Amino acid sequence: MTTAVCPGSFDPVTLGHLDVVRRARSMFDHVVVGIAKNAGKSPLLDLDERVRLARVALADLPGVEVAVVPGLLVDFCSEVGAAAIVKGLRGGADYDAEVPMALMNRHLTGVETVFVTGDPNLAHIASSLVKDVARHGGDVSDLVPPGVADALAAAFGGRA
Ligand code: PNS
Repeated sequence: MTTAVCPGSFDPVTLGHLDVVRRARSMFDHVVVGIAKNAGKSPLLDLDERVRLARVALADLPGVEVAVVPGLLVDFCSEVGAAAIVKGLRGGADYDAEVPMALMNRHLTGVETVFVTGDPNLAHIASSLVKDVARHGGDVSDLVPPGVADALAAAFGGRA
């Protein structure tokens, strides 16, 4: 059985993430969605909430589980026996951010990163933009799985 890890902050999970996880699942028997700490970001939603929302969103996808990455991503990949990390690329900015991480992860343990290009109709969806729209009262319900817009509204104190 082949396993891949789809890592990220998932703050919050979006339709873009789900697209990448489905594409990963089409290539690997088992996909572990790894919710990790990005040292460069302060999450809006706490870890338990990010895990809960991702589990609800992915509940109907066989062969996919959601777990917390407690430390280094490469150590987590070794623990779950992942053959690869899978990440989505929306464009050049993603490429510039992702390639150094892929190279560092391969330097650390030899784990490879497989990049997938997602649905271009979802290329504008980023968790950071979704939060910005929600923060200012915009409707994000068609950008995220069910329940996420309400969670953002609650996090922003009832707006959104
Ligand atoms: O969704 P993001 O924020 O772009 O995902 C980045 C993430 C969380 C996958 C990355 O920061 C990460 O792997 N964090 C875990 C700690 C780690 O392994 N850091 C070294 C990365 S080269």
